[in-house]
Amino acid sequence: MQRVLIATSNAGKLRDFVGAAAAYHVEIAGIPNFARLPEVVEDGLTFEVNARKKAEEYSVHAPGEIVLADDSGLAVDAMQGAPGVLSARYANLEMVGSGNSSDAANNARLLRELAGIPFEKRAAQFVCVLAAARDGKTLAVFSGEAEGILLEAPRGSHGFGYDPLFFFPTLNKAFAELTPQEKAVVSHRGKAFRKFLEWLNGAERIT
Ligand code: IMP
Repeated sequence: MQRVLIATSNAGKLRDFVGAAAAYHVEIAGIPNFARLPEVVEDGLTFEVNARKKAEEYSVHAPGEIVLADDSGLAVDAMQGAPGVLSARYANLEMVGSGNSSDAANNARLLRELAGIPFEKRAAQFVCVLAAARDGKTLAVFSGEAEGILLEAPRGSHGFGYDPLFFFPTLNKAFAELTPQEKAVVSHRGKAFRKFLEWLNGAERIT
């Protein structure tokens, strides 16, 4: 079975990947000793730049393995695409200015920024860019998006990040009301990951 190592310390992202891979013949694992590796600074202005940087730098620590890195975030129409690449540190940007903030703090800030904005103007997209790298070089890049509407109060207990506020009209549920497998069918990460798996099938045949 083909093995893919995911470069993340985010347990929610890892659960999403395992959920998305459940239907495929692929083994998903974290990079061994990930927490002890030097942290890659996500200072790129786009999801793609950050995803490539993470995949390339972390793949050096797992020679010969395919390493997949995800850079993702929420783009809110009424906020000109913010918080975007800054989604993980959205609340901290107001306070201490750097580092990731808790999901609760990020969601609280989002609700505050959107206060008074009616449902029909609360459209947002989740965006995910995945970079696959081996031995320090990017092999391919994949992206996926999911369209939703931001709720005025959280719903559901699954998922992570902004999932409790992200209402997905097609299923009439917030992302946090979906299991990892259900979320993978419709999510930005699931879509990008399926493109990666198609590529991986082809790549396996070639090499
Ligand atoms: P990064 O890719 O590590 O920069 O972090 C992306 C941030 O975007 C996460 O910490 C979440 O706040 C948010 N995010 C990305 N994907 C999702 C998702 O599937 N659900 C909820 N929040 C997400």
